[in-house]
Amino acid sequence: TFVVTENCIRCKYTDCVEVCPVDCFYEGPNFLVIHPDECIDCALCEPECPAEAIFSEDELPDNQQEFIEINAELSEVWPNITEKKDPLPEAEEWDGKSGKLEYLER
Ligand code: SF4
Ligand code: F3S
Repeated sequence: TFVVTENCIRCKYTDCVEVCPVDCFYEGPNFLVIHPDECIDCALCEPECPAEAIFSEDELPDNQQEFIEINAELSEVWPNITEKKDPLPEAEEWDGKSGKLEYLER
């Protein structure tokens, strides 16, 4: 499965949702997640993310492992998103910053 990681937080560019053939992205206030049971591992979304926040679970960096559980948990409660929208206003400023997990809004 593919996993959305920390650098999506406070950016939420949403380019990813347009290419997903099974519409398995779910949207929170400042982050998106992938439903692990719905993702078919097509890999189409990975290169679309301007923040390079999407990884295959197999290639997930060591410091992003907790996002496996975060994607699984929040994809059960957040609404589905299938159409691109404007990024968050502060997206460019926050792209690439570390320590964004503490700003995740649920
Ligand atoms: Fe959707 Fe494919 Fe990305 Fe999985 S890998 S979330 S199926 S676009
Ligand atoms: Fe987030 Fe990248 Fe999609 S920033 S919303 S994973 S395009």
